Amino acid sequence: MKFKKHIFICTNQRKEGERNSCGEACGMELVKAFKKSLKDKNLNEEIRAQRAGCLDACDYGPSVVVYPEGIYYGGVQTTDVDEIIREHLLNNRPVQRLIIDFSKEKKSESES
Ligand code: FES
Repeated sequence: MKFKKHIFICTNQRKEGERNSCGEACGMELVKAFKKSLKDKNLNEEIRAQRAGCLDACDYGPSVVVYPEGIYYGGVQTTDVDEIIREHLLNNRPVQRLIIDFSKEKKSESES
């Protein structure tokens, strides 16, 4: 594997009046914050952060996903970036408070 961790940050931007999108929130600010922090910490050779299109987690945005674990984070703010890097990307301790629980979504869909 080329990178130890790979983080994709949704920057999808919808038109005004359409459904909410991460790009409208702070998607690009998150990309910049992740890239800058990884570079400042000399981690950018082993951990890659890059922008992505819609991650299909729009209702939870701003959304990011970390591979290889495939863990989705929602409601991510630039103030969360260093915690995600320190806890998850470096120490393999996913940030529980930001993890999107898709199982709740499936339950409520099947209940309706
Ligand atoms: S717009 Fe960001 S996950 Fe869909």
